[in-house]
Amino acid sequence: MRLLVTGGAGFIGSEFVRMTLRDYPGDSVVVLDKLTYAGNERNLDSVRTDPRFRFVRGDICDAAMVGELAADVDVIVNFAAESHVDRSLEAPGQFILTDVFGTFVLMDAARAHGHQRFVQVSTDEVYGEVNHGLSVEGDPLQPRSPYSASKAGGELQIQAYRTSYAFPAIVTRGSNTYGPFQYPEKIIPLFITNAIDDRPLPIYGDGGAVRDYLFVEDHARGIDCALRKGAAGMDYNIGAGGETDGITVADTVLRLLGKPSSLKQFVRDRLGHDRRYALDSTRLSGLGWRPTVSFEAGIAHTVAWFVEHEEWWRPLKSGEFWEFYQRNYKPAVETPAP
Ligand code: NAD
Ligand code: DAU
Repeated sequence: MRLLVTGGAGFIGSEFVRMTLRDYPGDSVVVLDKLTYAGNERNLDSVRTDPRFRFVRGDICDAAMVGELAADVDVIVNFAAESHVDRSLEAPGQFILTDVFGTFVLMDAARAHGHQRFVQVSTDEVYGEVNHGLSVEGDPLQPRSPYSASKAGGELQIQAYRTSYAFPAIVTRGSNTYGPFQYPEKIIPLFITNAIDDRPLPIYGDGGAVRDYLFVEDHARGIDCALRKGAAGMDYNIGAGGETDGITVADTVLRLLGKPSSLKQFVRDRLGHDRRYALDSTRLSGLGWRPTVSFEAGIAHTVAWFVEHEEWWRPLKSGEFWEFYQRNYKPAVETPAP
């Protein structure tokens, strides 16, 4: 298979690229990535010299470039997105461009070149807040943040292409993912790197919002399973089946690093903060996928990785990162840059 992996320099995309080149010797991968603040070519260092790999810097909204790349591949797997809810609350425009219009550009190119598969990497957040029970794939999309609305907008374009043109798209809806190489703005890498530096861990609201934390390798394998075994036109949930609140994330990180509980700091809640997401992943399990890494094992591995890879994350926690941090957490947390 010849794959075009968009957003392949990001967190989950780069895991998927490393996994594909490792597990499928006959496959080749072209990564198209704009290298926004969240993209990092260093995430692909381990595959850089592989002759089956090529990196192209560019925007998925650039129809001419996407058209050229789509001509030489069998499938597009779209990870490219603006992905951080807090940034979407501050500036939604770029989310609509990349997550909605960019998805359309990719889909249109795939259709023009007669691709037999297209994978859209989406999120459990499109179901909206789920106070009871589990979301199944047929549930209505009820996004509540600008981020989740932009992801749902991309999905609705796909649904329209499926209906109108029998476009063979697969959508995956993964839960909150963590692990090595995650940009340190999301809760787990932020809390780990702050704790290493004895900085406060900013817990939104009462810390009771629940997420189903999924280890990144399990998420990448789930997307791979949907790509290779899934049926065109189907959506697949990918969740670990756990429920962990913000206080538990903080306590776990502090315990693993041997840091004091006094680093926990409750701050102003996220606007429109979704209290809970929870997925039923039975459909993907039917194709043979299972989550293999428990939250306890995955977070211990992740903490150890961040401790051992300061050279990876320290340069990221500077400049633009601190400007966003100051704005987002102001005035509750001490935030001077180091
Ligand atoms: P990320 O922010 O780490 O990476 C996104 C990548 O996309 C970056 O490399 C960035 O440079 C690139 N990108 C952004 N805009 C682009 C554009 N216009 N053109 C080309 N490249 C562009 O994100 P992630 O956490 O790895 O998430 C990957 C995908 O998975 C996203 O679609 C996200 O919505 C989805 N998802 C993420 C999670 C999670 O918990 N992280 C869970 C479920 C689904
Ligand atoms: O569920 C899938 C989604 O998970 C993905 O689609 C998104 O791309 C990804 O960013 C993630 O979204 P969340 O909003 O769940 O992730 P985040 O790490 O930002 O927040 C997780 C929880 O932790 C949430 O309840 C808010 C809380 N939180 C977050 C941050 C950054 C805090 O309490 N403090 C923080 O500083």
